[in-house]
Amino acid sequence: MAQVKITARNNGPFRVEAPEGSVELVDADGNKFDITGKPAFSLCRCGGSINKPFCDGTHSKIGFAAAEAAVKKEDAQGTPDPGALPK
Ligand code: FES
Repeated sequence: MAQVKITARNNGPFRVEAPEGSVELVDADGNKFDITGKPAFSLCRCGGSINKPFCDGTHSKIGFAAAEAAVKKEDAQGTPDPGALPK
């Protein structure tokens, strides 16, 4: 089982859950964000947060819509998935 779990929330942020100290969050220059004491945090993916890279809930105010369903690689390339159920 993975130690770090990242969940794409429906029309919302990426939720990161990891044991404390097992993940680092850094900016483009490699400077660390202080996530001490946070076993879980949410990263903005709508671009609207004023507290980037963290989600501040703005996504719900601006009507952010995201496609977050996991798709098998074969399906994404247009090749039929032999395990798929008929529609
Ligand atoms: S995803 Fe929540 S503010 Fe951007």
